[in-house]
Amino acid sequence: MLSRDDVFEELGIGPVWRLREAAPATPPATQDSSFATWEQLADAVAHCSRCKLAATRTQGVLGVGDRTADWLFIGEAPGADEDRVGEPFVGQAGRLLDAMLAAIDLKRGQNVYIANVLKSRPPGNRNPEPDEVAACRPYLMAQIDLIRPKLIVALGRFAAQSLLDTDEAIGRLRGRVHRFRDVPLVVTYHPAYLLRNLPDKARAWEDLCLARRTMREA
Ligand code: URA
Repeated sequence: MLSRDDVFEELGIGPVWRLREAAPATPPATQDSSFATWEQLADAVAHCSRCKLAATRTQGVLGVGDRTADWLFIGEAPGADEDRVGEPFVGQAGRLLDAMLAAIDLKRGQNVYIANVLKSRPPGNRNPEPDEVAACRPYLMAQIDLIRPKLIVALGRFAAQSLLDTDEAIGRLRGRVHRFRDVPLVVTYHPAYLLRNLPDKARAWEDLCLARRTMREA
């Protein structure tokens, strides 16, 4: 999912793309009260035409896992594999994410829910655009409301900056516990980034340990 530019931005080099321009600074809880149930939310995502991605995606990718999970992992957007299968993180990055989960005794679908900031694939794996993030935001907020996780793990610069409404580099956001609407939030590197930057796996392991400690204290 990450482009070459993303790798530099993951490292805090280069211009930072501001989601703030489109997303409200302090988002209200659920912005669309019509998502009272998972069925309503799933139906809305399946038929969504809120942004231009509706014209190019195969299907909306809501998320996968335990809908009452304590752990919520949030990535960027579906890639080609996810767009085809209809599930987040099913490609190579997904396999690494599963290994990261296993490293802290977690398993996809068991007390774990996996979602993305965007529910539709940006064509050619380009970066999500601010209007797309803004259009999709109510879906993610509704997911958080329905799941009521004890901990959120933001996977990568895009999810972290989007959720925390900041342009701080991921290297500065990781290593501490943030809060998103009263839910503790830990930032770590995106699995796709880690596939290309093996030395940062050690840092990701530290982040996962921080997440596990935070969960134990929650
Ligand atoms: N990258 C993401 O951020 N999400 C996916 O679902 C797949 C790859």
